[in-house]
Amino acid sequence: MPIRDSLEDRIALVTGAGAGLGAAIARRLSSDGATVVVSDIDYSAAQYVADSIEGAVAIAADVTEEDQVRSLVEQTVDRFGALHIAVPNAGVGAVQPIAEMSYADWRKITAVDLDGVFLTIRYAAPAIAASGGGTIVTISSITATAGSALIAPYAASKAAVKNLTETAAVEFRDHGVRVNAVLPGFIDTELVTTARPHFETALGLPAGGFDDLIASKQGRYGTPEEVAAAVAFFASSESSWCTGSSLVLDGGLVASLF
Ligand SMILES: NC(=O)c1ccc[n+]([C@@H]2O[C@H](COP(=O)([O-])OP(=O)(O)OC[C@H]3O[C@@H](n4cnc5c(N)ncnc54)[C@H](O)[C@@H]3O)[C@@H](O)[C@H]2O)c1
Repeated sequence: MPIRDSLEDRIALVTGAGAGLGAAIARRLSSDGATVVVSDIDYSAAQYVADSIEGAVAIAADVTEEDQVRSLVEQTVDRFGALHIAVPNAGVGAVQPIAEMSYADWRKITAVDLDGVFLTIRYAAPAIAASGGGTIVTISSITATAGSALIAPYAASKAAVKNLTETAAVEFRDHGVRVNAVLPGFIDTELVTTARPHFETALGLPAGGFDDLIASKQGRYGTPEEVAAAVAFFASSESSWCTGSSLVLDGGLVASLF
């Protein structure tokens, strides 16, 4: 008796999978038995990750471009005959106070972090339904749960993604598509590496001060593999009655006032 459900014969698509959480999610879904499409705006990054996963293929797609997202889903179904699992993971961030933010800056982030998730759900969910059902797992964030200074478009997108997840869960429930969200705390990926010095400057912290802040709030940084494990749970039938659910993974940050 396997400890966890196998994803054998499942076809999975992960966006933004050329690095960070997406790469770890692609690897985990594959090790659970799925055949994985590794997609990223950066084709060479996607190819690099796909080359390390047995049976995986890389497909380039910018999630902000509707035609590319539609084609990504079509190419997946053409190649493998079905789509069962989609993880709209691609995301970007920037550290900037609202008062210094142009509308163009705002739209650059929300285009990927919210619109890209909408487009992926928009084209993946009907394809999953047509394949006999499956799951979508969105990557929201703990920033969805409260105001998050200096990252307004990121946090607003993540809150909207949580709500979009719930709405999609309701709309696709009778079509056999479960839709759930994971809300990770801070994971030490390129996204955080890039933001770290900007946070330190904006918050008046010394070099290394951001890591100390995270350690005091989360205990430590989470790992991409810990997020991938939660995605694997939602992707499998072990979460068969979960839809519209959100799982916070953050070492207790959101749970604590002090
Ligand atoms: N790292 C964290 O602390 C953390 C916490 C919570 C949620 N998240 C979310 O997890 C997801 C992955 O973040 P990460 O930390 O792995 O980031 P990352 O920067 O390490 O990787 C993001 C990947 O997305 C790709 N990408 C960017 N724009 C794209 C686009 N328009 N179309 C397709 N691909 C695109 C990049 O090329 C890159 O490979 C994001 O949605 C992020 O918001 C991250």
